[in-house]
Formats: sequence, structure tokens, C-alpha cells
Amino acid sequence: MLFRQFIDPESSTYTYLIASGSGREALIIDPVKERVSHYLAAIEQLNLKLVRAIDTHTHADHVTGLGDLREATGCITVMGEYTRAECVSEQVRDGDILDVDGILLQALYTPGHTDESFSLVLNAQKPEAVFTGDVLLIRGTGRTDFQNGDPAKSWDSIVNKLFRLPDDTLVHPAHDYKGWTVSSIGEEKRYNPRLAGKSLEEYTEIMRNLNLPDPKMMDIAVPANLSCGRPRKVA
Ligand SMILES: [Fe+2]
Repeated sequence: MLFRQFIDPESSTYTYLIASGSGREALIIDPVKERVSHYLAAIEQLNLKLVRAIDTHTHADHVTGLGDLREATGCITVMGEYTRAECVSEQVRDGDILDVDGILLQALYTPGHTDESFSLVLNAQKPEAVFTGDVLLIRGTGRTDFQNGDPAKSWDSIVNKLFRLPDDTLVHPAHDYKGWTVSSIGEEKRYNPRLAGKSLEEYTEIMRNLNLPDPKMMDIAVPANLSCGRPRKVA
């Protein structure tokens, strides 16, 4: 399998480019608009054909690259079924499997950070990795104080869905702010300070008291992302 992780230093976003091999069809997860030329260069150099661009959720801290990638490559843009983005060409439901040239990704509905967040499990028959968006981060979890976030739903998604994956399943989040690049379900069960040894009540208390400022880009990113990062057509 061909697997590339990209970072957008501005927003600390991780983007993943995956294909079964060189010369094959590829998919990309959580692309950032400002980095699209970088992804396109990699796609060309690795002799890939991009067929799907996926957002795990409507991001508040960066503008999505979905629209630009669709325009450049003709790829299908994908989000979960509860997205409010009007420009997504394919919506996946819980349990749906995306098959890109033998790369199998199963959609897992994991609300909490937003009410429309999905995770994606690579090879769900024998899970190898999970792309968690912002629901589960490395030694952290995605904030739950805007975009219909909900600490109890976040807890349920993490503890009752993601933590049921095998311990050696790799965790690939959409962000990291501390220098981590990858984790595993077992590591997060043991060492995630918001979750390990905590109850739902304790987790809710932690999440309600984070007192984080709004993301710098929020007022620009959320409306832009509802149109896949492309300017909205004026009627
Ligand atoms: Fe997010």
C-alpha cells in the first residue's frame, strides 16, 4: 500500500493520500485548500489517479481542498450523510464501504466533535488503521463546544465505537499540535489523559471547561467548507 501523510503547518492539519500502489487509483482524506498544489505534485510524481477526496467533517480551522481537487482531477467528493455541505457528490452512511482500487474504507459515524463527523476504518474485516478526524486525537480529543458538538456523544463515539477496534489499530487523526504523528487504539486507551481511567461524567466536566478561543479561521472556514472550499454561486 502507498501511504503518505502531509501536514499543513498553518492549521496543524494532517492529510492522508492512500493508494494500493504506484500507478493506481488513490484517495485523499481531509485535504487543505492552500496545500492542493502540493498534493497534486505528489499525485503526479507517484503516477496516481485521484478518484475520491473525503472530508471527515466540516472543518472550522482551515478551508477544505475538496472543491479544488475535484476541479483539478475530476475526483468524487465524499462526506458523511449528515453533512450540510451542498457540493458533496457522494454521502456515506454508517457501515458503508468505500472501495478505491482494493483499498477498503468503512465509514463509522462518530459524532461528538461535530454532529456530522465520520471516522474511516481501513480494512474493517481486519482493522489496520482508523482515520478519526477530530473526534479522537493523539493524547487528546476534538473540542465539543461548537458545530453541535456534544461531550457525551464524543465519549460514546470514542469509548463504544473506536475503542472496540483492536488495540493495534493505528490512529491517524486530522490534527496534531504537539508533534505526534500516529498512535494506536491501545495507546489511546492507556495514555489519553482525557479518557484513561475517566468516567463519562469526568470527561464531560473536562470538555465543558476547556475554555478554548474560537479557531482563527472559523468565520471564513465553516461557510467556505459548506461549498467545498469553492466560492458560492451568487443567484
Ligand atoms: Fe474539526
